Amino acid sequence: MNPAPPSHLPARTAVAHTHVEIEPSILYFGTPVVLLSTENEDGSFNLAPISSAWALGQTVVLGLGREGQTAYNLGTRPELVINLPAPAQWPAVERLAPLTGRHPVPATKPEGCRFEPDKFAAAGLTGEPSQLVRPPRVAECPLQLEARAERVRPDVAGGFVIVEAVVCKVHADPGIVVPGTDHIDPAAWSPLVYNFRHYFGLGPELGHSYRTRTPRSREGFAAEPAVGALDPGNR
Ligand SMILES: Cc1cc2nc3c(=O)[nH]c(=O)nc-3n(C[C@H](O)[C@H](O)[C@H](O)COP(=O)(O)O)c2cc1C
Repeated sequence: MNPAPPSHLPARTAVAHTHVEIEPSILYFGTPVVLLSTENEDGSFNLAPISSAWALGQTVVLGLGREGQTAYNLGTRPELVINLPAPAQWPAVERLAPLTGRHPVPATKPEGCRFEPDKFAAAGLTGEPSQLVRPPRVAECPLQLEARAERVRPDVAGGFVIVEAVVCKVHADPGIVVPGTDHIDPAAWSPLVYNFRHYFGLGPELGHSYRTRTPRSREGFAAEPAVGALDPGNR
């Protein structure tokens, strides 16, 4: 006989078990793309797309391949800019995808990866001076975070490094800022999302957190799902 479920779990109803066990080769379940600009040894600048990025207060945590030029740069020159492209800029991001600033190209890079010393030009993107750090911002990106890598350490599996970058200056396109405030307008801004190696923007807004500082009327939201539609028991 099965024991009673722990009290913190909802009581089980007669739910059909529809999940299958799979072994996906990647677990990129949809995170924003950022373009990291960092300084090379010779004083030139590197630019690399990364999707393992998330914010904890003023710190952005980044996951980087251990042998890439970006990880190499941040190990010795900690200044960087975390540039956030808009969804329409995915072709420029994809132009950067097969490129590395590392020479010679490490054997661990995927087949077809090639060295490119000027990734701004290769992507068709424009560098503009930062205020507090040496690497340039990407002018075309609506959000640009100047930052400093305060901690760079190996991940548990050994192939990556985990970077904790503390943001010191934020630049935003006025078109995504609520006028007269310091708030990003979530209806005007969409990240570029990397979803199992495909690019997406955000769909229509569904609702907001009770903590939002930019509440909107319900008319601005997408139609609410019918009551219970999200409960697998009512599928
Ligand atoms: C959309 C996208 C997301 C990526 N996400 C990551 C990532 O999170 N971490 C990483 O190390 N590489 C990621 N890559 C691969 C790097 O961009 C690639 O390894 C590149 O060669 C790094 O450049 P670098 O060697 O000059 O630093 C991503 C590539 C693309 C196109």
